[in-house]
Amino acid sequence: MNNETLVIWGCGGMGREVLALCQVLGREVVGFLDERPEMRGTVIDGVPVLGDITDLYKWKDSVGVICAGVGDPALKRKFVIKTQNHGFLLSGALVHPSVNLPRSTHLGVGCILCAGTVVSINVSVSNFVIVNTSVTLAHDVSISDYATVSPGVNISGNVTVEEGVFIGTGSAIREKVTIGAWSMIGGGSFVKEHVPSNVLYAGVPAVFKKGLSHHP
Ligand SMILES: CC(C)(COP(=O)(O)OP(=O)(O)OC[C@H]1O[C@@H](n2cnc3c(N)ncnc32)[C@H](O)[C@@H]1OP(=O)(O)O)[C@@H](O)C(=O)NCCC(=O)NCCS
Repeated sequence: MNNETLVIWGCGGMGREVLALCQVLGREVVGFLDERPEMRGTVIDGVPVLGDITDLYKWKDSVGVICAGVGDPALKRKFVIKTQNHGFLLSGALVHPSVNLPRSTHLGVGCILCAGTVVSINVSVSNFVIVNTSVTLAHDVSISDYATVSPGVNISGNVTVEEGVFIGTGSAIREKVTIGAWSMIGGGSFVKEHVPSNVLYAGVPAVFKKGLSHHP
């Protein structure tokens, strides 16, 4: 893991949780990034909001940027593109010390694994994925870039979560299911069949609720 100081995109609930994770890991966070001009100069949980990425040039070669400080997958993607376009370094993976990672685990750039998550064998967590608190990832689960897995989700064996998926709190996913890119699963759902891309599925069992046209 790199040891550079860090900044976090987003200063809402997720960003603050990522700050707390960095503190547990002994990593120094010099500030939050937020596109809203009115947020610049405020202090949240003892850490200043520095402004937008363009306000950060003096630290360009010395900070690592955490883009997964927001739960919204599309917003994460926007922050990643912006960070890369301005030539900043991306932070590596951040894993809470309570999480045991088998040797077969693959972790991407800038992903976050929060406290209490259980990771089984041959699990892949790709770039900028958030795995929130107390999630279980069973054998051979694959989670693609920008996805967000909310607290208390149980993902069974051989499940594929495609790019940009959001899985709401407390949901359970049946084995061998694929959740299509940029789809959302409502909180408390049981997903028992493949979910297409760009849709909201929810309920027990989860069924189609609406199409989502706003994702890439
Ligand atoms: C998935 C979610 C974001 C959808 O929000 P939304 O886009 O505003 O969806 P809508 O309110 O338009 O709902 C569309 C339909 O899906 C249903 N629906 C939405 N979420 C549902 C859920 N979790 N379970 C069952 N049905 C759900 C709504 O009742 C509505 O049904 P209707 O058309 O029959 O009235 C939200 O409902 C949700 O579950 N959020 C969980 C967020 C979460 O886990 N956050 C973790 C933060 S750490």
